Amino acid sequence: MGLTWKKRVLTALLGAAAALGLTTLILLLVEATSVLLPADTKFGIVFDAGSSHTSLFVYRWPADKENNTGVVSQALACQVKGPGISSYASNPAQAGESLQDCLEEALALVPEAQHQETPMFLGATAGMRLLSQKNSSQAGDIFAAVSRVLGQAPLDFWGAELLAGQAEGALGWITINYVLGTLIKYSFSGEWIRPLEGTLVGALDMGGASTQITFVPGGPILDKSTQATFRLYGSEHRVYTHSYLCFGRDQMLTRLLARLVESSPGPLVRHPCYHSGYWTTLSPAALYESPCVHSTPPPDLARTLTVEGTGNPGACVSAIRGLFNFSSCEGRGHCAFDGVYQPPVRGRFYVEASSPGQDRCASGLYILTLLLEGYGFREETWPNIEFHKQAGGTDIGWTLGYMLNLTGVIPAEVPARWRAESYGIWAAGVVFAVLTLLATLGAVAVHLLWPQG
Ligand SMILES: *[C@@H]1O[C@H](CO)[C@@H](O)[C@H](O)[C@H]1NC(C)=O
Ligand SMILES: *[C@@H]1O[C@H](CO)[C@@H](O)[C@H](O)[C@H]1NC(C)=O
Ligand SMILES: *[C@@H]1O[C@H](CO)[C@@H](O)[C@H](O)[C@H]1NC(C)=O
Repeated sequence: MGLTWKKRVLTALLGAAAALGLTTLILLLVEATSVLLPADTKFGIVFDAGSSHTSLFVYRWPADKENNTGVVSQALACQVKGPGISSYASNPAQAGESLQDCLEEALALVPEAQHQETPMFLGATAGMRLLSQKNSSQAGDIFAAVSRVLGQAPLDFWGAELLAGQAEGALGWITINYVLGTLIKYSFSGEWIRPLEGTLVGALDMGGASTQITFVPGGPILDKSTQATFRLYGSEHRVYTHSYLCFGRDQMLTRLLARLVESSPGPLVRHPCYHSGYWTTLSPAALYESPCVHSTPPPDLARTLTVEGTGNPGACVSAIRGLFNFSSCEGRGHCAFDGVYQPPVRGRFYVEASSPGQDRCASGLYILTLLLEGYGFREETWPNIEFHKQAGGTDIGWTLGYMLNLTGVIPAEVPARWRAESYGIWAAGVVFAVLTLLATLGAVAVHLLWPQG
């Protein structure tokens, strides 16, 4: 009699353990497959049409975790061959064609079944900002040509547009803080934690035609045109952002050369930023085409001119300084040009141009002058600046922030829905695992302790 009961109880406990164990396993697999299945991945494509070149970025993220942070990753970065789209003013159709190769690379990466639902944008920055100032109909023709090519792709094309300098700065700030996880983090304990306000980083961006600075200021922002506010994950962010058009690297070097040409008597120009023996041939027409150069070429300028470098950093810095417009900095407080050039820091940047066309020496000194004398960074604040092209495998720029904002991947409110579901599955998994263990232990206890006979 006892034996039959023992057998019955044992069978019941072992059966329960098997059923509970299976349920736990299914719960675990449900979670795992939703992460691993490639069909659950979403894609987004952004073209960054800068002044000197265009890049394409493909981003991907798990579809069911659309509203999470830290899950969007860069799947592809493609450099478009040739110059920036603003250089095709005389032949707009070619601007569109230049994007074909990268577009095809992106199409090959995104599974065909998802093409229709994959958003694609093109954002143009300072190069096109300058062109539309110079000749808005040419800029319009380029946007039309580019939109024609991109609109033909079997993707969800959301348009090509000119980004304002302020948006470029603010979106770059969103990108870097998103990538570094300083906006919001999903903790191991399954909760959303908002990092302290003080951990947010500011963003400095050096482009070809403009440069941007964006940060959370300690005090009120007096000039409202430099303020950007947005709501991310339930927090209101207010940043100071300013884009300095014509202070990008290439435009700066162009202005520098134009200034030197004007003060030079002949077709040979001595350039203090280049190492001795460096020379290049320039078309003066190209030099004076930029809207950033506010003068006309000297009448006796030869068709081509030669630049010879002396590689004198002190003279190079003086020449760069001469280009800053003191009056435009008045009232802003951070454009103090009375600072002394600080030699200890120079070594970090002073890289000699090793071959013609490489302007590393001049650009290095320019960046240094901008940071120390333009923005007024000092010895105490200097170590806080980090120079990066990438963070966490993602290129840093405005493109990721742009896609996050437009596709709503970063919600204005704290995402609660996914947490609840995920937490529920996790909690059920734990309960079933504990029950499995209890049933198994019960079976063992019955087997060992139940009186025989
Ligand atoms: C702008 O470009 C168009 C086409 O290249 C030209 O016909 C027009 O004269 C230009 N306008 C100005 C203001 O330069
Ligand atoms: C974010 O997207 C909205 C439209 O969804 C737009 O109005 C806003 O300007 C964008 N923010 C930035 C900084 O570009
Ligand atoms: C993500 O957030 C947006 C807006 O906040 C919402 O419309 C959408 O349904 C959310 N998606 C998911 C998967 O929760």
